Amino acid sequence: MKKRVGIEALAVAVPRRYVDIEDLARARGVDPAKFTAGLGAKEMAVNDPGEDSVSLAATAAARLIQQQGVDTSKLGMLVVGTETGVDHSKPIASHVHGLLKLPRAMRTFDSQHACYGGTAGLMAAAEWIASGAAAGRSALVVCTDIARYGLKTAGEPTQGGGAVALLVSETPDLLALDVGLNGVSTADVYDFWRPVGRREALVDGHYSITCYLDAMAGAYRGWRERALEQGLVRWDSKLPSEQLARILYHVPFCKMARKAHAQVRLCDLEDSSNGPVTPEARDESAKSQASYDAQVAKSLGLNARVGNVYTASLYLALAGQLHAEGAALANQRIGLLSYGSGSCAEFFSGIVGEKAAERMARADLDTVLAKRERVSVEEYERLMNLPYDAPEAIAPEPGTFRLAEIHEFRRKYAGA
Ligand code: CAA
Repeated sequence: MKKRVGIEALAVAVPRRYVDIEDLARARGVDPAKFTAGLGAKEMAVNDPGEDSVSLAATAAARLIQQQGVDTSKLGMLVVGTETGVDHSKPIASHVHGLLKLPRAMRTFDSQHACYGGTAGLMAAAEWIASGAAAGRSALVVCTDIARYGLKTAGEPTQGGGAVALLVSETPDLLALDVGLNGVSTADVYDFWRPVGRREALVDGHYSITCYLDAMAGAYRGWRERALEQGLVRWDSKLPSEQLARILYHVPFCKMARKAHAQVRLCDLEDSSNGPVTPEARDESAKSQASYDAQVAKSLGLNARVGNVYTASLYLALAGQLHAEGAALANQRIGLLSYGSGSCAEFFSGIVGEKAAERMARADLDTVLAKRERVSVEEYERLMNLPYDAPEAIAPEPGTFRLAEIHEFRRKYAGA
């Protein structure tokens, strides 16, 4: 029998502060509806320099181990997917490994490809396990990022930050992956990038949306071809994409998931032999509100309150989806679309596990979000202007890590 491989459990870490998106709109002299209805945002996570990509990753991983009772002696791989590296050489994975006192006999590395790095790590881990090379061991995949465009930029309302830690194993209680069914699409584009030495990303905003949609069309069609071959979906009265119980997308801002879903439907409608015939009718059907409500809307609860988390954003959508509907989705197939600028898109699928709701209850996401403090726009701006290497002296909350200081280019962490 083919090995079952996938995500056994997850945990989420977010910065301790957030700004209300309507407060930000008013401070920028923008109609709040542009940020709420136009971008789909509600709140935006705000980190201070003590909450860097390492401390968020270590906090999420420590939480996963504690909440789910993970036996760390069974871990054989730790991958950190991130766009927010802290060193050109020493990986975040090595910091996390040390802070969590994980076993020496582990493969550890960072995976960088803009927002796609976490998915690259997940696939490396899943295929390592599926190949048999893991010999029964599990993997930790941590997606961690701080999305930062800068004050008063067009990207400002789409910032955010946080980390999602995934336990990948042969006991996929959350999601058993359809290993090998993945569709991928790569293109050499400059849509979003962050040159060495810069804290803020550069982005060609509207072009980046086009690049995302273009890449995802290729990735989705690749997945669909294999899924049709294996009889997992069919051309019949329901479109192939409608045969997935839910579809989760990379969410740089919530409205993007709506655009992405319309694009997936458009691929099906264009390729179907019995769909609407005129381009206008196809466009209208692609934008179906009913389909969006049924297949996508419920996945966005956390993304709307945290903002973009680059590598972690798809997995925050997975967390939100299973938090909202884990029990109802048991044994159903869902689709997932990862996009990293630069670019690489990957569409993959999996079956939600029967224990998904139980596992998600242990992740205690309501408490994770409820503990945050709402700050004013003035305080958000003060935090944004702090130098990255001078963290405020704040005692870490129990169970969390913070950057304490950077001395002679060596980072020191406190907590947990
Ligand atoms: N009421 C309601 N809606 C309004 C409105 C109002 N008063 N005013 C504007 N809107 C709507 C607009 O119609 C638009 O909606 P549609 O896209 O559906 O037409 C939406 O609000 C946004 O308006 P604009 O396009 O005018 O906004 P903008 O030009 O200021 O910037 C942005 C939007 C390009 C997304 C910008 O925030 C940005 O650059 N963000 C960062 C880049 C990004 O997230 N790219 C996504 C793809 S790349 C990727 O996914 C990788 C990654 O993570 C970065």
